[in-house]
Amino acid sequence: MRSKEPSPMPDNQTTKRKLSHIQTTLHQDVQSHVPTGFDDVRLIHKALPEVDRGEIDLSTDLFGHKLRAPLVIESMTGGTPLAAKINRTLAKVAEKLGIAMGVGSQRAAIEDQSLARTYRVAREAAPSIPLFANLGCPQIARDDALDRAKRAIDMIGATGLFIHLNALQESVQFEGETDFHGIVKKIGELASALSVPVLVKETGAGISMETARALEQVGVKGINVSGLGGTSWAGVEYYRARAKRYGLQMELGTTFWDWGTPTVPSIVEVANSTNLKVFASGGVRNGLHIAKAIALGAHYGGLALPMLKSASSGENAAVERLTVVIEELRNAMFLTGSRSIDELRRAPLVITGATHQWLTQRGFDPAKYATRSNKSS
Ligand SMILES: Cc1cc2nc3c(=O)[nH]c(=O)nc-3n(C[C@H](O)[C@H](O)[C@H](O)COP(=O)(O)O)c2cc1C
Repeated sequence: MRSKEPSPMPDNQTTKRKLSHIQTTLHQDVQSHVPTGFDDVRLIHKALPEVDRGEIDLSTDLFGHKLRAPLVIESMTGGTPLAAKINRTLAKVAEKLGIAMGVGSQRAAIEDQSLARTYRVAREAAPSIPLFANLGCPQIARDDALDRAKRAIDMIGATGLFIHLNALQESVQFEGETDFHGIVKKIGELASALSVPVLVKETGAGISMETARALEQVGVKGINVSGLGGTSWAGVEYYRARAKRYGLQMELGTTFWDWGTPTVPSIVEVANSTNLKVFASGGVRNGLHIAKAIALGAHYGGLALPMLKSASSGENAAVERLTVVIEELRNAMFLTGSRSIDELRRAPLVITGATHQWLTQRGFDPAKYATRSNKSS
């Protein structure tokens, strides 16, 4: 009898690459060596919180949808049977916890429609959550970009479309596609033609204020900074090049392993230079990181690799991981006397070390965050 699942061995380049990304990130150390900056940020402890921890409300809005916590399971995968299993598990978890999720780049299913179900499983397992479609720049640079974007959105009943920027990865990859000419204009065309919000995300190298402003001007509604400090995509490509003995790509992967804007400076740059929804990701590993990100101006926090790892141990492990993250966030809210996410946004904090230096040199005043009254002015 013929199985309903796609064949277990991917037979095109895109799906092979997706599978090797999962295997590499699960089994090799692909962590960046440069810190995110979260350790440079200290929320001010409120010894008298004047809040009942049990009454803290973590809920927030995302494009008209209510989230039970300001959390997104980051865009990761699709296109292979293993990816379908991961998408289904992660989506079940997101539905259970009332949080958002993104599927990985849908290029594989645009090229081969029989793979659409490896993404659609996410919507089937999570009928009520905000779920984000995902395409990369080579897909939107094409003349049929609008058609491709609509197909990606329809495939999963998407709430919005994330366009991912991965110039770093493409530049160190043997088969990399490095023509990024005219992409901002293309993103703008999609933003005005599509009926759902268009958002842009990086993939571990961060987004600067200049890029954020350019994207806001063309109609993008949100930015996921995906900064340096978590998964290094130059690192991932280093391991893929090593397996194939591609010397030049190994050298490039090593030299550019820690390229980019760390997550914390990137959050501050984007949040202070635009009015966009800001997603904090890239090395976000616990709920305290998310609390700091929100107090710095982000609206949501996202985790990728930790969720891939826990989902590969099963649904319960992934629920447990995120339950810990949510309780850590609640704890940080309690200890800063924040009853709601809005109040957490106004919580005072101090920025030290390399992050302080970065922000000062880029023209920001770190002292703005140090008191509640400065932050709201
Ligand atoms: C296995 C894997 C596959 C990924 N694939 C995509 C993708 O297809 N599209 C995308 O926008 N980001 C992709 N990412 C990037 C993540 O969404 C995220 O931005 C990045 O990994 C940084 O987060 P982290 O440090 O929590 O892993 C992928 C990440 C991982 C670990």
